[in-house]
Amino acid sequence: MDSFFIRGNKPLQGQVTISGSKNATLPIMAASLLSSGEVILTGVPNLDDISVMSEVLTTLGAKVTRENDVLIIDGKDVNSCEIPENISRKMRASNLVMGALLARFAQARVAYPGGCAIGTRPMDLHLKGFRSLGYDIREEYGFMEGKADKIGGKEILLDFPSVGATENIMMTASLTHGTTIIRNAAREPEIVDLQNFLNRMGAKIRGAGLDTIKIEGVKHLVGVEHKVIPDRIEAGTFMVAAAITRGDVWIENVVSEHIQPLISKLREIGIEIIPGSSGLRVIGSSQPRPTDIKTMPYPGFPTDMQAQMMAFLATVKGTSIVVETIFENRFMHVQELRRMGANIKVEGRVAIVKGGRLQGASVEATDLRAGAALILAGLFAEGETVVSHIEHIDRGYDSIHEKLQGIGAEINRK
Ligand code: EPZ
Repeated sequence: MDSFFIRGNKPLQGQVTISGSKNATLPIMAASLLSSGEVILTGVPNLDDISVMSEVLTTLGAKVTRENDVLIIDGKDVNSCEIPENISRKMRASNLVMGALLARFAQARVAYPGGCAIGTRPMDLHLKGFRSLGYDIREEYGFMEGKADKIGGKEILLDFPSVGATENIMMTASLTHGTTIIRNAAREPEIVDLQNFLNRMGAKIRGAGLDTIKIEGVKHLVGVEHKVIPDRIEAGTFMVAAAITRGDVWIENVVSEHIQPLISKLREIGIEIIPGSSGLRVIGSSQPRPTDIKTMPYPGFPTDMQAQMMAFLATVKGTSIVVETIFENRFMHVQELRRMGANIKVEGRVAIVKGGRLQGASVEATDLRAGAALILAGLFAEGETVVSHIEHIDRGYDSIHEKLQGIGAEINRK
């Protein structure tokens, strides 16, 4: 098991290029099952989660080949509708194939996905959506089993704007005859990218990015080529890297409107952000100001940036408040940051952060974004920080230590 070895206290300078979005690629890979044609995805990041989703698709009989950032998926020979537990437990997003399997084969049997450290991650909203579309869904022996019954387009109201449930229902509805309307839909940019991909395949979907999405079911979808959007959370992570080291970094391949909540928060703290046509410049401040963060569904402040921002606020003199409203257990980075001298008190979903100095220490990554937060803290801390269990980080960051080295960070992987 590798670790990252980091020596902090150096302002990062230079240019870094962001990879394609993990959270856009995963649902689009699942959606490729909707067609027996060949799908060519470009701008695909090199991540463990993408490898796991490729394994999920090949388990079903699809052919998946990769050449650099190009992924080719051929769903012609899909011959199974079952995802076994040993695969499904590897990654929560394996649940995203259920909607596509129901739509194309009128049946699916998917083991409950792994919950993960940040929360129980139930599937009730996904299953409510499938049932509304007329699928007979059973939950038994650790599996979710579905088959077509009286299927037809319907109006579905999501109790919570779940990203995954919105994506799963979009996929199923795209091949379900009649009109489906999803109300209180998730509005993330990755939902828009999925809509664009599906419409290119021949689907008729409108409204992604807003809270109501309308889908006219069609009979057939074809294989297409698609370039995935840049990863707004990787971009945000590097923006915080520039801010926490009081550096000056150009971040290439960023869609600024995808990270407006982060841009406005960093500006509140005193960080200078200068957007350009294909990226943005982040200039740290010698006197950053404390602020308050409350995670919300898009277009609110993203929960996937909460840990990284907390690491930064732990270095900003004054008191900041961080409220996590999306996941019930997304403060596991706190105990690790405390080992580095961070002054953070947690009351339920509220963390009170009193900024100050940090010292290097041996810390453990507990989940993907917590691991990223520990790297950021190590870039600021005096002395050496060792981050272990970095397999969590490999799930969602493509060569993060090499990208950081490229802008002057002292970080090695051993
Ligand atoms: C997606 O997860 C992202 N993953 C997560 O990113 C992200 O944190 C999350 O959306 C929220 O933005 C991918 O896109 C692959 P949700 P997802 O359904 O779809 C509850 C990362 O770091 N809920 O929007 O699983 C759920 O428990 C990952 O890249 C139900 O109650 O998230 C949670 O509290 C982490 N019932 C809330 O909704 C359901 O049926 C948000 O979950 C579904 C969800």
